[in-house]
Amino acid sequence: MAPRRIDPRSVRAASNDPNAEVLRALYAYAPPDAGAPCTIEHDGRSIAAREGEPVAISLLAAGVDTLSRSVKFHRPRGPMCLRGNCEGCLVRLDGEPNRMACTAPSRDGREVRSQNSFPSAQIDILRVTDWFFPKQFDHHHLMVRYGTTINEVMQSFARKMAGLGTLPERPERAPAPETIDCDVLVVGLGPVGLSVATALARAGHSVCAVEEEPFVGGWMRDSLRWFDRDGRRVCGAEASDRDLAALRAAGASVRVSASACATFDDGTIVIQSDRALWVRPRARVFANGCHESVGAFGDNDMPGIFTARAAARALRYGVRVGESVLVCGPQEDPELDALSDALSAAGATVHRLPEGASLIEALGASSVTGALVGKGESDAHKIKCDAIVAPTSRTPAFELAGQAGVEAAQDLDRQCFAARGDEFGRTQREDVFVAGSVAHGGRSPVRERAIVGSVEAWLEKGRGR
Ligand code: FES
Repeated sequence: MAPRRIDPRSVRAASNDPNAEVLRALYAYAPPDAGAPCTIEHDGRSIAAREGEPVAISLLAAGVDTLSRSVKFHRPRGPMCLRGNCEGCLVRLDGEPNRMACTAPSRDGREVRSQNSFPSAQIDILRVTDWFFPKQFDHHHLMVRYGTTINEVMQSFARKMAGLGTLPERPERAPAPETIDCDVLVVGLGPVGLSVATALARAGHSVCAVEEEPFVGGWMRDSLRWFDRDGRRVCGAEASDRDLAALRAAGASVRVSASACATFDDGTIVIQSDRALWVRPRARVFANGCHESVGAFGDNDMPGIFTARAAARALRYGVRVGESVLVCGPQEDPELDALSDALSAAGATVHRLPEGASLIEALGASSVTGALVGKGESDAHKIKCDAIVAPTSRTPAFELAGQAGVEAAQDLDRQCFAARGDEFGRTQREDVFVAGSVAHGGRSPVRERAIVGSVEAWLEKGRGR
C-alpha cells in the first residue's frame, strides 16, 4: 500500500484552489511535520512516525489500516473515527492490551502488536468463521449441544481464539488520586463547553474543565472551514487554541486527556492519563457532545471506512486516508465540500456520490478496495477506491448526564436519545446542566449565556443557604 504522508509544502505551493486555502492556513499555523521523526514497531516492522501524532495516524501514513480482528467472526478491524469512539483501533501497545491506537501518541521505540488474529491481522485464517456462518451462530448453545467432552474442547478452543488480547506483561501502578474542590465542573471542551466554562470563570467562579482528548475544540479543531476570531478569519486549530487561552486567562483549571468516566452526587471520577481525579463540584455542566458512527450499508465495518471528521483529522496530521477516496453524504454539504477540496489539495483522487445515489456496499477482503453505489439494484455500479468517507450519524453522548440523574429524551425523528434539558440548560436535577449537542442543542451564544445564567443562579442559591 502506498504511503499517505502529505508534504505540506506541496499543498502550500501547488494548489490554487481557494477552497484549499484553509488547509494551507492550517499547515502554516500548525505544521504537521513539526514533531521530531521517530520509529515505531508494528508487528515486527519498523514504521517511520512523528513524535506526538497518534499511533493510528502513523500506521495510516504507512498504509496500514487493518489493525486487529473482531472477537467472534474475526472480521478485519481498523480505525474509523480517530477519536476514541469506535474501538476499531484496539492494539497491544508496549505490552498493554486493548489500547486505542488513535488516542496513544507515537514515540521512538513504541511497540505495536495486532490483537486477536492468527497469523496476522492482514491474513487471519480464523476469518473462515465468518464465511462458514454467514447468518451468525449462537455460541452459547453450539457449545453445549453435543455433550460434555465436545463442550470442553469447544470451550478451551474459544478461550484461546476469542476475547480481546492477553493480560499485560507488567502490573499497573497508578499514582494516588487527586481531589479537586470547585464551584463548577465542565465536562467536554468543544466550542460550547469552552464558551460556558470561560464565561463562568470570568464571573469569578472556580471552574474545573475537563476534556478527554489531548486538545480542546472538539469538531471545530478538525473542521476544514474558517472561523472568526476578533474579526479575523482563522482555521479551526487556531480558533480552538485562542479559546483555550481565553479559558486559562479567566483562571479555570483545564485538564486535557482527562476522561470523566463516572459521576455521583458527591463527586465525579476523571481519569487523566494514568491518574484518577476525584472532582467535587457544586454544579456539573455536561457539554460532552456526540458519538459518531457510520451509516448502514454492506460491510460497513471494513478497515478503510472513515467518518468525515476522521478524514479531516488525518489531514490535520498531514496524512490522507487514501489515495482514491469516495466521499459520501449530501451534495453541497459545506463540511463535505471543504473536506473533498482539502483531500484533492492533499493529492488524493476524490469521488463524490452522484445526486440521488447511495452507498450500497464496501468492497474488499481485509480493507477497502472499492464500493458499490447506485440509486437501486438495477443502477448499482462499482467505484474503485482505497478509502470511503461514509455517511456519518451523530447521537448525543447522554450517558454521563444520565448517571447524574438526568432523564433521557427519546427523539423518534433522529432515532436516538438526548439528555433532557430546557433552553436554560436546566435538568430535573438542580445542580446538573446540559449544554450543546448532548441535549440536541447547537452553538448559540444566546443559549450559552442562558446556561451560564442558570448555573450562576444555582450557585447563588446554594451560597444563601
Ligand atoms: S476508537 Fe480509535 S479509531 Fe475509533
